[in-house]
Amino acid sequence: MAFTRTAVLVKPDGLQRGLIGEIISRFERKGLKLVALKMVNMTDEMLSEWYAEHKDKSFFGDLKSFMGSLPIVAMAWEGIDVVPVVRKLVGTTLGREAEAGSIRGDFGMSQQYNLIHASSSESDAEREIAIVFEKDEVLGYNSALDGVVYADYER
Ligand code: CMP
Repeated sequence: MAFTRTAVLVKPDGLQRGLIGEIISRFERKGLKLVALKMVNMTDEMLSEWYAEHKDKSFFGDLKSFMGSLPIVAMAWEGIDVVPVVRKLVGTTLGREAEAGSIRGDFGMSQQYNLIHASSSESDAEREIAIVFEKDEVLGYNSALDGVVYADYER
């Protein structure tokens, strides 16, 4: 089975709400491996690229100004099937309908202020990681957890 990567952003509302540690902790406890982490002021250019699929939506301008209003915390996480695993931990877009137990379900009420972004596919993850991280900022390593989180036949 292949280890893959996904991009996560803790959005400005997540930073303001003091949820950085809680969010990192949830991914760590799940058994995912953190391979990149930094705070970023997202520029309009970065956000236009990041949210290219939403460029014709009515909320595009609001979304970009919200995402550029404060630093975000960008991360890359690694694991088997990490894209769908992280999306499940994050929950559906609208906080007040998101499943209890998910990050949005436990901490959010809003659609725009939904705390966190998670890549929706492996190709999006690669594209998104390249927007916020230089190649040498994404650090692969052997984790002591690798042999405990996964059975040998899975790795
Ligand atoms: P996410 O799914 O991470 O990526 C697109 C973001 O656009 C979404 O989270 C919300 O933050 C935001 N969004 C989606 N729909 C709306 C909407 N109708 N109005 C404002 N923001 C939205």
